[in-house]
Amino acid sequence: MLKLNISKASCFVGDASVKALEGDIKQAQQALEAGTCLGNDFLGWLHLPSSITEDFLDDIIATAHLLRKNCDAIVVAGIGGSYLGAKAVIEALSNSFQWLTKSDNAPAILFAGNNIGEDYLYELTEYLRGKRFGVINISKSGTTTETALAFRLLKKQCEEQMGKEMARKVIVAITDAKKGAARTTADKEGYKSYVIPDNVGGRFSVLTPVGLLPIACAGFDIKALVHGAVEIEKATSVDVKFEDNIVEQYAAIRNSLYRNGKKIEILANFQPKLHYMAEWWKQLYGESEGKDHKGIFPASVDFTTDLHSMGQWIQDGERSIFETVISVAHPKHNLLFPHDDENLDGLNFLEGKRVDHVNKMAELGTQLAHVDGGVPNIHIEIDALDENHIGQLIYFFERACGVSGIVLGVNPFNQPGVEAYKKNMFALLDKPGYEAESKAIKARI
Ligand code: PA5
Repeated sequence: MLKLNISKASCFVGDASVKALEGDIKQAQQALEAGTCLGNDFLGWLHLPSSITEDFLDDIIATAHLLRKNCDAIVVAGIGGSYLGAKAVIEALSNSFQWLTKSDNAPAILFAGNNIGEDYLYELTEYLRGKRFGVINISKSGTTTETALAFRLLKKQCEEQMGKEMARKVIVAITDAKKGAARTTADKEGYKSYVIPDNVGGRFSVLTPVGLLPIACAGFDIKALVHGAVEIEKATSVDVKFEDNIVEQYAAIRNSLYRNGKKIEILANFQPKLHYMAEWWKQLYGESEGKDHKGIFPASVDFTTDLHSMGQWIQDGERSIFETVISVAHPKHNLLFPHDDENLDGLNFLEGKRVDHVNKMAELGTQLAHVDGGVPNIHIEIDALDENHIGQLIYFFERACGVSGIVLGVNPFNQPGVEAYKKNMFALLDKPGYEAESKAIKARI
């Protein structure tokens, strides 16, 4: 089970300061349970893990099998919450060199619709030329420009290469139950489709088909993933004592540090496979808490890589940061530090030691150095990078985010700020209906 240690963070603010938040934290948990908090129409994620049925998962697994059987590549089109969860889990669980070592005929899982890079899209369509490929089109609104653009290109290419009939089988839509372009197209074309529940926001949707279908297509065990989330759902309910409740402890220490001037949280890992988990986490916390001119800024680093770059800033820069480290107790493989006759690098003293032992000492050394340098350190440990533990991590962060945001005093479940760039972009692109905005914005440039 996921472990949390906040002792090297609470020593900066005092245990009493964490304990003082118990009342607010419990109230936030109760408000989530009772549905009385701000944004209470978006609480579908709260008991999502325990409400997912076996039949539902079997249906997703059957769709994944159909796609895997008929496709050399599957492109997942989506952005933000409709992309990062799947990407994070697939990266965390995959072989780092899967593209080079793949021998099992499993399809490549590719992502699109998360940028407007012309070269990216051109190179993707070139890569897919002549290949059997399918598309999972994910968009709750169905009107997101990045995803809609990618889907236009991919649908056309898929129909041309696979034929209209086969394309209908290998294009799957994950979208709103009733409205939006993705729903209309799916119904018109007869695509298999899944619904993104109305009460689950994008960044909380990884345990809906938004994340589950791509993850199953990548060959991973979505039942174990959901099971891991259920374990943490139980372990972090409002009835669990504050001192034993990892979600409440994490939410409390974050808010306490924030109130004591620590405005930036850096999520660090010592496993490169967790890079995208941090990207997912940044969206979850950034979009949930950054509003009303408040909120901890979520940043991330990959160690030990970034100790050779950002390590300087973290050790010696402005003391407005705290660090949350995700530590993985057991790697999957066993690799020993090799002997070298010449020993020019002076590292023969490590001969025969596990590489992970060296990594763990780097982790411990970094923690102590950063704490000495004035950086509070929160430590999260999972046993292994497998489906169950990734499921645990996902639900832990989701629930802590909800609780933390409520204690901060914002609505953690909306994202009004993301509309500003879209409005300007459409005005600059002369979208019909934006005539006044177009005139106004062009006068500014
Ligand atoms: O968390 C969110 O709500 C956003 O990141 C959305 O998921 C993202 O903007 C994509 O929206 P949509 O699924 O409507 O295309």
